[in-house]
Amino acid sequence: MAPPAIDRSTNASVGRGPNFPGSGTAVVGLQWGDEGKGKVIDLLAGSFRAVVRYNGGANAGHSVVIDGKRHALHLIPSGAFHQGVMAVIGNGVVLDPDMLFVELDRLADAGIRSLDLAVSDRAHVVLPWHKAEDAAREIALAAITDGSGSGGSIGTTRRGIGPAYADKAHRAEAIRVGDLLRPASLRTKIAHVSARKEAMLRALDPSGAAAASLPAAAKMTDDLIRSGERLRPFVTDTMYLLHHMLNQGHNLLFEGANATLLDVDHGTFPFVTSSNCSVLGISTGTGVPGERLSRVIGVMKAYCTRVGGGPFPTEQDNDAGNRIRERGREYGTTTGRPRRCGWLDLVALRYAVMLNGVTGIALMLLDVLSGFEEVKVCKAYRLQGKTTDRFLPDAEALAEVEPIFETLEGWEAEISGCRSRDALPAAARAYVDFIEQAAGVPVDIVSVGPDREQTIRG
Ligand code: IMP
Repeated sequence: MAPPAIDRSTNASVGRGPNFPGSGTAVVGLQWGDEGKGKVIDLLAGSFRAVVRYNGGANAGHSVVIDGKRHALHLIPSGAFHQGVMAVIGNGVVLDPDMLFVELDRLADAGIRSLDLAVSDRAHVVLPWHKAEDAAREIALAAITDGSGSGGSIGTTRRGIGPAYADKAHRAEAIRVGDLLRPASLRTKIAHVSARKEAMLRALDPSGAAAASLPAAAKMTDDLIRSGERLRPFVTDTMYLLHHMLNQGHNLLFEGANATLLDVDHGTFPFVTSSNCSVLGISTGTGVPGERLSRVIGVMKAYCTRVGGGPFPTEQDNDAGNRIRERGREYGTTTGRPRRCGWLDLVALRYAVMLNGVTGIALMLLDVLSGFEEVKVCKAYRLQGKTTDRFLPDAEALAEVEPIFETLEGWEAEISGCRSRDALPAAARAYVDFIEQAAGVPVDIVSVGPDREQTIRG
């Protein structure tokens, strides 16, 4: 049965609904991203009224399987393809309209036209100068440090994320989705800002190539006005929309993009992204306060990976790491870069569980560890001769720690056909129990393969 229509108008009832208020569930990555949040969201989304993105932009990447076909998405929330589920892009997202349209067009080509989408009028827009600045800064940083081409750079996705959030903080030069709907003032603003952006790009890249890559201000404005017209039917005050849904008794699923250890405040700064990708970003990124969250599902891999620069205490730049990369197909969805791979870091895991208020864990890619004679887990760090079980959310400090590993028995058998915890080999079961104990919260979901059915619940 189709769910009741949601009133998107600004007159929709607001305030605390006392009788049957809905609640929020958050799905958040506990490591450095790419934990498999897309699969977890796809498993759960059918029982929610909306899936809500609250942070990041087209730096995130997930693939969803619709009618047997795999689609790579960056901005559209995964899980939005279940009947009756609205896709909401909250105010905390930085939106690249062209990327969104590419996704919508690809989906339309695949015959998927019925996406119920709402976009916040307060989401910030990623503009061509943000992408040019992102790339120019990365190149400049790499050259300054050691000239090797990677030394000082953050290793961003070059999708303009950092510069777009910087403009949000600068305020005067930022463009929000709502601005795209006001052509006259948009034209004046772009004309003023583009001159300053060009000068800034010339300073960053004296060759002039970055500045020359920008479209002329008039053309950029025309393009943005067209984008605004295409977006107009979806644009609304999503904060009111979400509260209205909650007060009608609907449940919402908040989809974290990127992941906890990339959180700009709580991650391995400065090797982080520019938003609050932990659960803490939900309040600011949607306007829904934390008290409306009843469940936080932390998604983790059975090992660790990282893309881009920054410290990674349990990294295995050796046969073990290569084996994890090949078995786990650890190559980026957004950039195709090979991911750095390593053993599970329980210090980082406990930190992420604490920070997010995780109520249950989804343990992904356990099948990738099949065939290892033994598996290692990092139980603590050694720092300046002392043992610590504290995570250090600062790149320079974390780069100094040495992981203290415990070795556990591995398992030979393939487990992708297992459908219960009891069916797992004893060593794999012990590994799950070990994680549960270390994290202090239950493992609610164990994933043993990419397909929906390859899942152990409870
Ligand atoms: P940015 O978000 O493009 O500025 O990149 C900053 C850092 O975050 C880089 O190391 C990226 O590789 C990393 N990053 C951003 N988004 C993701 C993601 O969704 N998965 C994994 N890494 C990410």
